[in-house]
Amino acid sequence: MEHIQIKDLAFQIHISEPKIRQRIASLAAQMNVELATTSPIFIAVLNGSFIFAADLLRQLDFACEIQFVKVASYHGMQSSGQVQELIGLNIPIEGREVIILEDIIDSGLTMDYLVKELAKAKPSQIKICSLLLKPKALKVPLEVHFTGFEVGNEFLVGYGLDYDGFGRNLPHIYQAVEPTKE
Ligand code: IMP
Ligand code: MG
Repeated sequence: MEHIQIKDLAFQIHISEPKIRQRIASLAAQMNVELATTSPIFIAVLNGSFIFAADLLRQLDFACEIQFVKVASYHGMQSSGQVQELIGLNIPIEGREVIILEDIIDSGLTMDYLVKELAKAKPSQIKICSLLLKPKALKVPLEVHFTGFEVGNEFLVGYGLDYDGFGRNLPHIYQAVEPTKE
């Protein structure tokens, strides 16, 4: 198996480009049935979801809008640690069906924050769509309506996902290779 190197880590292909394409086509087909009459707003979470969002949206055949947001986290002054902030939601979503688009759900904490934050703007419904889901890593209960692939806890890059900023441009999804034990 061919390996690629990003910084200090070696990666091998975990989900190939054709498999990703195939899965996104069936997610789009499902949405073309389920969301056909609701004129939803897709809210895509930057940076990771930009390629997924672009590939998915081009296969949807119903009226829809898309908005890109960012969840910024930083360490605040409180001892509670991480403070999060939602940036970029500058259109009204009251009464609208919202579909959140994510690249990957790991602990689920980012998504949980996002759902709670978006709910304050009173959409009629919020559905979660994530290309990748790590069910064993979830720390909060989340109902993920559209899932591309369930994966293990391994670290992934490519197709929008990064390792320390790099690797988003890779066409396949790669997993970090365990260092071989001597
Ligand atoms: P969560 O809040 O723990 O669910 O993490 C969500 C965010 O962590 C995602 O939006 C990604 O940006 C990042 N992330 C989680 N797992 C991975 C991974 O395997 N590769 C790259 N980024 C990841
Ligand atoms: Mg992300």
